[in-house]
Amino acid sequence: MTEVEVWWGRIGQVRAEFIGDLDPVERQRHQAYVQPQDKARFLLGCTIVRRVLARRLALPAASISLDRTCPDCGKPHGKVRADGVELSVTHSGDLVGVAVSDRPVGLDVEKIDPALDVDGVARLSLAEEELEALSRHDDRARAFTTYWTRKEAVVKATGAGLREDLRTITGVPTGMQVIELTVDPGYSAALAIVSPEPPVIRSRSVQVLI
Ligand SMILES: CC(C)(COP(=O)(O)OP(=O)(O)OC[C@H]1O[C@@H](n2cnc3c(N)ncnc32)[C@H](O)[C@@H]1OP(=O)(O)O)[C@@H](O)C(=O)NCCC(=O)NCCS
Ligand SMILES: [Zn+2]
Repeated sequence: MTEVEVWWGRIGQVRAEFIGDLDPVERQRHQAYVQPQDKARFLLGCTIVRRVLARRLALPAASISLDRTCPDCGKPHGKVRADGVELSVTHSGDLVGVAVSDRPVGLDVEKIDPALDVDGVARLSLAEEELEALSRHDDRARAFTTYWTRKEAVVKATGAGLREDLRTITGVPTGMQVIELTVDPGYSAALAIVSPEPPVIRSRSVQVLI
């Protein structure tokens, strides 16, 4: 059985004391963010990852060793990795999500922006048949964001990220499962996992961690 835990939090749940559990790399990234919302999103993502793993391993959150090395440039802005577990972190608007599994996983959430230039972004990221289907939707910003989060979840599961041409990611890639998640009516969210069978998804609130 393929299982995945999906943890959701809101930036209003952030407390300054969470900074105490960050490693030096995370502290530096946290400090470098200028906007308070970006700081809060990053800090909450780090905190959820650390506290979920700390709970599993019965260790202090600060002692969890995380690797964020980017395979392209070596800077610590890549997919977060830890020994013996697969992780994916996402943030948008108020929401922060973390997926945890024993199989490669990608999680993506995006706040739906009604003012989005749908045509502009769709041309760069959707295949011809998707563009055609999109044109038939009433709420095109929502429909586009659903496509986008599904595609982002896929490229986050493989670790390729936006280096991949999203126009070529259509439907469900072989060997993967892609599931749309309901978190908040103002957001789209999707989970992709390398698995031959649909996963059992356990949705968890960070309330129990903080
Ligand atoms: C990963 C990526 C798709 C995230 O997109 P986004 O919608 O802006 O942001 P999200 O909030 O959903 O995800 C951010 C998280 O993705 C994770 N991430 C970063 N690179 C990733 C990758 N290649 N694959 C999977 N996850 C990745 C990180 O954990 C990050 O969280 P953090 O703030 O704790 O570091 C995008 O940033 C990307 O493609 N980056 C790598 C591509 C690239 O340009 N590489 C070369 C850089 S030198
Ligand atoms: Zn890089």
